[in-house]
Amino acid sequence: MEKVRIGVIGVGGMGSNHLESIKKTERADLAAVCDIRKDVADEKALKYGVKAYYRGEDMMKSGDVDAVIIATPHYDHTPLTIAGFEHGLHVLTEKPIAVHKQDAEKMVEAHSMHKSLVFAAMFQMRTDGMYKKVKQLISSGELGRLMRVSWVITNWFRSQAYYDGGGWRATWSGEGGGVLLNQCPHQIDLFQWFFGMPSKVTAFCSLGKYHNIEVEDDVTAYMEYPEGHTSTFITSTGEAPGTNRLEVMGDRGRLVVEDGKILFTRTEAAVAEYTRTTDKRFEGPGTWNIEIPCHNEGIVGHQGIIANFVDAILDGKELIAPAEEGIKSVELANCMLYSSLEGNTVELPLNSTKFASKLGDLIKNSTYVKPEVSEERQDDFAASFNK
Ligand SMILES: NC(=O)c1ccc[n+]([C@@H]2O[C@H](COP(=O)([O-])OP(=O)(O)OC[C@H]3O[C@@H](n4cnc5c(N)ncnc54)[C@H](O)[C@@H]3O)[C@@H](O)[C@H]2O)c1
Repeated sequence: MEKVRIGVIGVGGMGSNHLESIKKTERADLAAVCDIRKDVADEKALKYGVKAYYRGEDMMKSGDVDAVIIATPHYDHTPLTIAGFEHGLHVLTEKPIAVHKQDAEKMVEAHSMHKSLVFAAMFQMRTDGMYKKVKQLISSGELGRLMRVSWVITNWFRSQAYYDGGGWRATWSGEGGGVLLNQCPHQIDLFQWFFGMPSKVTAFCSLGKYHNIEVEDDVTAYMEYPEGHTSTFITSTGEAPGTNRLEVMGDRGRLVVEDGKILFTRTEAAVAEYTRTTDKRFEGPGTWNIEIPCHNEGIVGHQGIIANFVDAILDGKELIAPAEEGIKSVELANCMLYSSLEGNTVELPLNSTKFASKLGDLIKNSTYVKPEVSEERQDDFAASFNK
């Protein structure tokens, strides 16, 4: 195979964007589009000169594609991914890989039976030079032993009009969650990529605090890690102006990631050792400030993940975001919601059956009625992931 023939399933806001990215990807051919909305699929098919399908499975068994990108609403990621493997196709699925851990487990299990197929997730923030540098600083031990982490990511503002548009959004049955499942999977993925998985999660999620929706739009989570450090993760779609500030405290200083910059305030001595040995009573160790240089390399963003997916298929290149790792951000998001709903601290690993059953109860007991919207608009779509 010299070029990978890719079909995109779900060509709404994000899927349309992927069509453009595929066109720009050297060793990929856009081979087909699929959307359950015939008008949407036909329009894209005409625009790109490819065949339209209206059912994912029809496209998968057509022989037209070697790989699929799944950009449908969340619940469909699971059956479409599994069907993809059954048809011998490589799969790149949008985030979150699934609504809940049990579905993610099914996907990972299905892939384990088709290991020769590439299974990737659209976590394009992992290609960002700034976040790659943060990962490198933490993994290399530059900060010393981690003490405390805090990420306030409240610049995911969404209006009521956003939630009202798109029939699947902001309901337990359609989307399966709110800010934790739609806007924040990227940061939750980065969180576990940087800091690993916690052993305990205690969270407070407000359902429909700022919007007329039934899912969470405001979250404060506290997490404890086996290594001893703690973290807080705060997010909201109701605040404006929002904040995006990641602060990492380690034994050798503090890292602040904000406004596209990484600032490292490095201590002259290891803090724990200094605390034990200094005769000074109030003064901490001296510090110096460093702005850590970082820049993007190669192809980044969505296109970067697609190019990497193609390289993995053709050359066996290591994936930037293997979908198997996507289960972790799903589990963390589920833990936060579960902790809040139960009013308890959740210990990991999360019992995926119990959480799936809890979500089932939310769906069954829902009384929320989604407002009627006459037309769906795709305005400002780029603003949805330009964080
Ligand atoms: N990576 C990112 O930066 C990013 C940004 C936005 C959205 N997303 C993700 O992309 C996915 C889609 O979100 P969106 O905002 O594009 O939604 P959307 O509603 O704009 O588009 C979804 C499309 O899928 C179609 N569809 C629904 N079920 C289908 C099925 N079973 N088969 C084929 N087509 C189907 C719908 O008709 C619609 O056209 C979600 O997983 C979302 O979280 C990712």
